[in-house]
Amino acid sequence: MDAPREIFLKDYKMPDYYFDSVDLSFLLGEEKTIVSSKIIVSPRIEGNSHPLVLDGRDVKLLSVKVDDKDLKEEDFHLDSHHLTLTRPPSGTFTLEIVTEICPQNNTSLEGLYKSSGNFCTQCEAEGFRKITFFQDRPDVMAIYTCRIEADKTLYPVLLSNGNLIEQGDLEGGKHYALWKDPFKKPSYLFALVAGQLESRDDTFITSSGREVSLRIWTPAQDLPKTAHAMYSLKAAMKWDEEVFGLEYDLDLFNIVAVPDFNMGAMENKSLNIFNSKLVLASPETATDGDYAAILGVIGHEYFHNWTGNRVTCRDWFQLSLKEGLTVFRDQEFSSDMGSRTVKRIADVSRLRNFQFPQDAGPMAHPIRPHSYIKMDNFYTVTVYEKGAEVVRMYKTLLESSGFRKGMDLYFKRHDGQAVTCEDFFAAMRDANDADLSNFLLWYSQAGTPNVKVVSSYNSEAMTFSLKFSQGVPATPGQHVKEPMFIPVAVGLLTSSGEDIPITSVYHDGTLETVMENGQPVFTTILKVNKKEDEFVFANIAERPIPSLLRGFSAPIRLDSDLTDEDLFSLLAHDSDGFNRWEAGQILSRKLMLSLVADFQQSNPLVLNPKFVEGLRTIIRDPSLDKEFIAKAVTLPGEGEIMDLMEVADPDAVHAVRSFIRKELALQLKEEFLSTVINNRSSEPYTFDHENLARRALKNVALAYLASLGDEELTNLALDEYKSATNMTDQVAALAAIAQNPGLAREEVLLDFYQKWSDDFLVVNKWLSLQAMSDIPGNVANVQNLLKHPSFDLRNPNKVYALVGGFCASPVNFHAKDGSGYKFLGDIVLQLDKLNPQVASRMVSAFSRWRRFDDYRQALAKEQLEKILAANGLSENVYEIASKSLA
Ligand code: ARG
Ligand code: ZN
Repeated sequence: MDAPREIFLKDYKMPDYYFDSVDLSFLLGEEKTIVSSKIIVSPRIEGNSHPLVLDGRDVKLLSVKVDDKDLKEEDFHLDSHHLTLTRPPSGTFTLEIVTEICPQNNTSLEGLYKSSGNFCTQCEAEGFRKITFFQDRPDVMAIYTCRIEADKTLYPVLLSNGNLIEQGDLEGGKHYALWKDPFKKPSYLFALVAGQLESRDDTFITSSGREVSLRIWTPAQDLPKTAHAMYSLKAAMKWDEEVFGLEYDLDLFNIVAVPDFNMGAMENKSLNIFNSKLVLASPETATDGDYAAILGVIGHEYFHNWTGNRVTCRDWFQLSLKEGLTVFRDQEFSSDMGSRTVKRIADVSRLRNFQFPQDAGPMAHPIRPHSYIKMDNFYTVTVYEKGAEVVRMYKTLLESSGFRKGMDLYFKRHDGQAVTCEDFFAAMRDANDADLSNFLLWYSQAGTPNVKVVSSYNSEAMTFSLKFSQGVPATPGQHVKEPMFIPVAVGLLTSSGEDIPITSVYHDGTLETVMENGQPVFTTILKVNKKEDEFVFANIAERPIPSLLRGFSAPIRLDSDLTDEDLFSLLAHDSDGFNRWEAGQILSRKLMLSLVADFQQSNPLVLNPKFVEGLRTIIRDPSLDKEFIAKAVTLPGEGEIMDLMEVADPDAVHAVRSFIRKELALQLKEEFLSTVINNRSSEPYTFDHENLARRALKNVALAYLASLGDEELTNLALDEYKSATNMTDQVAALAAIAQNPGLAREEVLLDFYQKWSDDFLVVNKWLSLQAMSDIPGNVANVQNLLKHPSFDLRNPNKVYALVGGFCASPVNFHAKDGSGYKFLGDIVLQLDKLNPQVASRMVSAFSRWRRFDDYRQALAKEQLEKILAANGLSENVYEIASKSLA
């Protein structure tokens, strides 16, 4: 194939034409769907004579008219990607286009497609061009109407954006609905749904007293499972009013759940479309993790109404403008609804386990990428999660009130516009008159900054110094980096663990007072801005233990000179909950890396007793939040440790992590046993912090105990499995048992499947649990599951559960016989024919192949080369595979 074209940010040009209004009409049919559009087109500059280039993919052109007249053949040009009007009229004109598409054959799940018999759309980023010819770019914003016509029995519900203007019956058993969205929007926010759906209805009264109808649509049998989603939506609406002063702007808000969806969900104006797994929940079928994810994603999509829809992106390079900001908003929402510390721990773990590796690999890109081949490949943990960290840094630097001022100015300036990351930056800066110096580098430089800090105490001067040095590693296309602007939140502890009041800090030769309302502070933000930067705390009466990067105030790798003793003290006392957890993680990472070295040199593995005692104190501390304890006794993931090694060794890391887990289970057996026993409950399931924290702790303890694999503890887990009254406890007990091969595992897996074979979301848990297993030779089980009746390569959730789950098990995916790599290579090629977006997400598992030994490298490379050599490869997979090999 010809190498696909790469698109560059620096080549951005404003559109030559704007669309003032777009009237769409859909005739939905079983064989084909006819789409008519009537667009009022205005040149950006009066009298310009540029051609009008419309995007179109897999659409059949039936007719094109300008100002009511069929366009002559010499006045347009059609190829596989565009319809070009070579000589459009010089002023405003009406463009009418009729196209034919086949949603029922659309397995890419992009554009208009069918899911379980219903029609639905997914247009972001560039799916609208699979519906009709259009300037499919976010800086072309228009007022839309949408008329839908379809068979009334097959598709009783017809939905689109905005308000329902008109509906009625037609001849031949058909009916229609006409929708009008009063807000201007880009094509990526267009949506249509038609099918057999029913709704859970509720209302929300906004702060200014308007009543909004809320509807969550699903097939009838799933309606009982939408209560939590409705609760989440109302909580999100209220939160956005309270925290950001943002009110919903229409009288109707619809959410539709569909079983076939590439991503999590989509924020189409007033018609959010969701992957079912992020809507449907009941205590019997969904875990606490599912409940939390639903809360977060319902919030996320709702928050997009302002950050994404009212103010949108000028071009797709700016994606983080809406995604980073909206992830930040959903993180804050979830924090306020649960435990802030635990939410922060979960978000930072995610960043470390997924984003840091991406930022250190061949796909590393800044939160605002400089180029792409396929935009879909840039819906990444970098754009989303690192993007959210960048937004969080504004808040850290400007404080809540300053951040809010910046947000207010952002909306005041840009409501109704398609803007850039600089516009957001400028609003934050201008609203606060802030000196944000080179903060914009966070948007352009890829790679996780490495920061080193050296401390020293001067007892005569009573000063404590922190000397920082920083560097950003080279990333593809960026060899030389500049020093970044890094907010480092710091507190100081006495040797007995109390916070030391901070009054003033010397920096660059001046003494800065850091009091707040005349009072000393316990945490201060150091603005590290140079390659080497020193800060000296004044009036410090004893050598302190610094608590560095509190709350993870910047997305960096921090290397400090804290001793193990300091870390144990921080683990026991730090008033910053996040850093208390972090101290334990730093100790765990050190411990795991040193045991990995022992394992590689065939030395016996011995667990440091101080580490065990540190965790024992945590488990026994009744003052601690139970969910926090659960996080604190969880070891860093295998991926996180491999990421810290010169040459990643999955077998050694796995052996060491399993060794530590078993050793902890043995030495803390009493604590874990009483934890399980004391945290059972016979109350009905409720999703509140107290109860989910209790379940989290109990289930972590159970997993430790069952890792020992002896009969008594396996039976304990079996009892938990049998007595479970909710999915959280049931699947946790199942997972605990399934850690060890054997009859108990087989029986309980079979039992679970038989119980739940009718519920595809629960069956996906069953698939992923088996796929992620580190049981030796698991690839064969996964191969068999591909043929299981519950599996379907066309459903993304099933692929993510089974194929994605398999790639998440380092020992099996990286198996030395190459079986894991071959499995993935084969499946990617099959998937690519059906759904390039999903195939491309799967092929990403290869991208860090150079981190492994030569032998594994050769095996992975062979698969990547095989993929690249395939005929008709999608641009999506091409981009990831070729960049991985580059
Ligand atoms: N904007 C959606 C969100 O809320 C994600 C859309 C992803 N689409 C895609 N083609 N990757 O995050
Ligand atoms: Zn989003």
